[in-house]
Amino acid sequence: MKGIILAGGAGSRLFPLTLVASKQLQPVYDKPMVYYPLTTLIEGGIREICLISTPQDLPRFRQLLGDGTQWGLVIEYREQPKPEGIAQAFLIAESFIGADPVTLILGDNVFYGGDSFQRAFAEFKSGATIFGYHVNDPERYGVVEFDAHGQAISIEEKPRQPKSNYAVPGLYIFDNQVLEITRNLKPSARGELEITDVNVEYLRRGQLRVHRLSRGFAWLDAGTSSSLHEASAYVQTIEKRQGIKIGCPEEAAFHRGFLTLAALEALAQRMPRCEYRDYLLNEVVAEARRLSA
Ligand code: G1P
Repeated sequence: MKGIILAGGAGSRLFPLTLVASKQLQPVYDKPMVYYPLTTLIEGGIREICLISTPQDLPRFRQLLGDGTQWGLVIEYREQPKPEGIAQAFLIAESFIGADPVTLILGDNVFYGGDSFQRAFAEFKSGATIFGYHVNDPERYGVVEFDAHGQAISIEEKPRQPKSNYAVPGLYIFDNQVLEITRNLKPSARGELEITDVNVEYLRRGQLRVHRLSRGFAWLDAGTSSSLHEASAYVQTIEKRQGIKIGCPEEAAFHRGFLTLAALEALAQRMPRCEYRDYLLNEVVAEARRLSA
């Protein structure tokens, strides 16, 4: 399974924050936003990742994430010159995807809790798997409608009158048909290749599964000043209470076996003295030592 992180867009809703650094590089409490979706992919066991961003912002992402070897990953980069839709990511990353299935995650989506995604990745064979999450304001999202048996029967992008409260979060798992489906898409009224149209096509083919995420699961989007602030407050609350970190790629890579304990320790040792380094050395490394003693 390949992974794509889409971190494009003008970030206009966060202006003036986004004048010099793109939305997905803004801090969500104690880390850059893109660390969260990156960690979600690592937790799912995905090692080959393509990050897509604008030509202006791409150098910053490279500076932040490098080629991924420090986390046992392979990270490639591709440009999306204009914001022409989420689904365009598949065309941009076509040579990266090759003949494999692919997971696309949006660079401003923060997920936390449970193992729904890990299970979905492990169980995925063909077709498409997406998720449904109960929200207060479904009209801001792709909205999925279910029948009495819990089967998805329609998906609409930002409907004025939503048919349910279930929004589709920005993590999508597709088999290789996604390339052919996207090639045949027509741009929507807003001039974009819509991810919702890809999902609708899988639904039409009878190959779309929609897992409803449980109540204990957190999905935050950080695309406006107030949702960005709320996401930070949420992360801070959980981290402080539990003494663990959300969205820590080093820790996830170690737990997935992408990094040895020695490599994790060496990586942390190279960091400047800070709370993040202390966490890796005093919690993650020390805990692993205790468990293996
Ligand atoms: C996009 C998708 C929408 C999805 C949302 C999740 O919306 O078009 O279907 O529910 O991401 O974050 P956008 O963020 O582009 O408004």
